[in-house]
Amino acid sequence: MPRKILTVIGTRPEAIKLAPLVIELGRREALESIVCATAQHREMLDQALAIFGVKPDFDLNIMSPGQTLAQVTSRAMEGLDSVIQKVEPDVVIVQGDTTSAFSGALAGHYRQTRVGHVEAGLRTGNKFAPFPEEMNRRLIGRMADLHFAPTEFAKRTLLDEALVEPESVFLTGNTVIDALLWVRNKVESESPELPFDFDKTIGDNPFVLITGHRRESFGSGFEDICRAIREVAEQHPTTHFVYPVHLNPNVREPVNRILGEHARIHLIEPQTYEPFVWLMNRATVILTDSGGVQEEAPSLGKPVLVMRETTERPEGVDAGNARLVGVDYDKIVGQLDLLLRSGEEREKMASVNNPYGDGRASIKIADVLERE
Ligand code: UD1
Ligand code: UDP
Repeated sequence: MPRKILTVIGTRPEAIKLAPLVIELGRREALESIVCATAQHREMLDQALAIFGVKPDFDLNIMSPGQTLAQVTSRAMEGLDSVIQKVEPDVVIVQGDTTSAFSGALAGHYRQTRVGHVEAGLRTGNKFAPFPEEMNRRLIGRMADLHFAPTEFAKRTLLDEALVEPESVFLTGNTVIDALLWVRNKVESESPELPFDFDKTIGDNPFVLITGHRRESFGSGFEDICRAIREVAEQHPTTHFVYPVHLNPNVREPVNRILGEHARIHLIEPQTYEPFVWLMNRATVILTDSGGVQEEAPSLGKPVLVMRETTERPEGVDAGNARLVGVDYDKIVGQLDLLLRSGEEREKMASVNNPYGDGRASIKIADVLERE
């Protein structure tokens, strides 16, 4: 009998980071892959799954507009519990630190099923940054039986906490690199469709690619971010700003209000992974609070300004590829201005260096799932 692996996928980044693993599991005769989407995200999840051709076996369809954390947790828990009861998996796989991932680990634990944690060992040490992700991942770590650490640093962090069995920790690389390399090859051979005519609108002008969605930045944080972007747009009259705006209403409201109707600020809908990777690859600078984008940028040799006070991904900062600017108006304006003015500064941050993986993380995880 093949071992049953139930993979829980809730949001866009989980879809991107777990799709390569689901594909790899599907290739293994010794494993049976079953996918449950909580659909904590709806449109953004469907976009990401479609690119990889992953079709969930179960879809809990829990998203509701403006959902609270408690709603996500309780709906996901209830649905996942029924799925686990029905499927009787040998291992439940969760990824990262979303509320779906936390619910998947807890639901697995309640059914006394082994839990595997992909992207284990990331920590900031501050339980409110990012919120609620830092606590989600710490709690997942307490429940998991198999810990797939993406980097040596993450593995060391887990071992130093001394809360898990050392033999349950596996260094695999981050599956996001598996996904990125696959899609980068695709977009290098054929340009994906964008919602505007890139050559006519931006052409060879510099452009800043922006994403943002962190809960701890809602309110005054997002206001300051947007004001800073507008200020830099005034200072740099040939520079464009491309901003695929997250569907969270707490993000869309200030972004549309402060950045709407500017000729060089292009507010667009969340992009599917192919055009987004193409945009990252072409960008002059990336300004983001995203975890995934911080991991992807070094592979593409792009300077990243991280709109966070602290990061659980210090590898990019140590490699010189990422700088923390928080949601501080002066820091964002100062660093963006510096990078847009100075090719030398950009060059310092642009070395193509990949601390996050070699594109074989899914193979390594599937090997462990066959073996352990
Ligand atoms: C979630 C995760 C976060 C992850 C991020 C990736 C939690 C608590 N948060 O944050 O860790 O980094 O996803 O993007 O798990 N919405 C839509 N359609 C979509 C997606 C979102 O309309 O496809 C809107 C809805 O109004 C929804 C809101 O965005 O209620 C917030 O979604 P939610 O998943 O609760 O939080 P995110 O901020 O997306
Ligand atoms: N991404 C995408 N389209 C977009 C913006 C981001 O496909 O319009 C990808 C990005 O390349 C990365 C992932 O989505 O792989 C990051 O998602 P997000 O920033 O929402 O979540 P986080 O990584 O912070 O959890």
